Amino acid sequence: MDRNEQLAVGSRLLGHIDGRTTDLADALFRNKVDAYSSTERAMRERDALFRALPLFMGLSSRLPKPGDYVTEDVAGMPVLMTRGTDGAVRAFANICRHRGAPVAQGCGNARAFVCPYHGWTYDGQGKLLGVTDKVGFAGLDLGAHGLVRLPVGEKHGMIFMRATPVQESESADIDVDTTLGAMGLDFAALELNTYPMFSVDRVTPRINWKFAVDTFLEGYHIPHLHRKTIAPYFIGNCGTFDGAGRHGRMCVARTSIDGVRTLPESERNFRPHVIAIYQLFPNTIIVWQVDHIEIWRAFPDRDDPGRCEVEFSLYMPADSERPAAYWEKNRDIAIRTVMEEDFPLGERMQIGFESGATEEVIYGRNEPSLVHFHSSIRSALGVAA
Ligand code: FES
Ligand SMILES: [Fe+2]
Repeated sequence: MDRNEQLAVGSRLLGHIDGRTTDLADALFRNKVDAYSSTERAMRERDALFRALPLFMGLSSRLPKPGDYVTEDVAGMPVLMTRGTDGAVRAFANICRHRGAPVAQGCGNARAFVCPYHGWTYDGQGKLLGVTDKVGFAGLDLGAHGLVRLPVGEKHGMIFMRATPVQESESADIDVDTTLGAMGLDFAALELNTYPMFSVDRVTPRINWKFAVDTFLEGYHIPHLHRKTIAPYFIGNCGTFDGAGRHGRMCVARTSIDGVRTLPESERNFRPHVIAIYQLFPNTIIVWQVDHIEIWRAFPDRDDPGRCEVEFSLYMPADSERPAAYWEKNRDIAIRTVMEEDFPLGERMQIGFESGATEEVIYGRNEPSLVHFHSSIRSALGVAA
């Protein structure tokens, strides 16, 4: 958000606090519990969302230096992402062209990738440099057996990748402006390229991936579920919501926002008092926190609709002089709130969804972010319910 937008959102929040109101969706939204538990629905989502759409993969600082790489399994696609010596980010299927072993593991920095199975070697641009038994593979065209390329895009300090190979008629570049649509203006203003990565954690809760996203899309539960932890710092059930295509932005206020009221507009700074929660369709939450960025990405399990993998990463400002212990504390609060309060309850809800006792859940008009997220999923899947 640029300054004008921050002032506008801050004023909307103050208005809601005064009127004890919140932004509302047009209508109640009923969703089938099947959306969280059916295997058929999970397969559709894998193909139409996780394999067909550009997915946010992290801030640029996830791959800060030439030669840096990360590997990740994305909805059944083993992915290797590199930053080349030319500074460009590339993505490949992490599948050796000999017999399919992953050529890289974990993350690190490398000039070449040597397959652990029989030692075939690839460079950072995915080119097959050589095989280990020249006689055994005489006549093999090395040039035609590079790693399979996946489309990527990088802009505003953000990296996107699509987990479907580049087609012959297609460019290997993802157009980030098109991907972000109207939300691009906000991200350009956030200067995300100035945030180095502080930490990354992964968990595998026994919940559908959409519930992991839902967790962040309403402040209605804060005074109840988080009564003993973060509730004293936030104004519950009060927020703004703005959709931008299938993405959305929800803003909530900290109780400290009251201090801004007495200031003239030219002196107002809402940054310490307003949290912006971006829902980047389909599976990413970017939280613009008081003084740092928190990112949550949820991925469906390969087989079980009732499981997912969630990655939490914290990025701190590059110019911060705060000690590592300060960021460690922020990391700990975020992880404990979500892992000890939101997700354990979600695991009980998932059991309820799978029990067959109820048919639907209801998102209230006071939960517009949830309504927008699930409407967007339906439209992307081309389903009515
Ligand atoms: S599978 Fe990679 S070298 Fe054999
Ligand atoms: Fe929560």
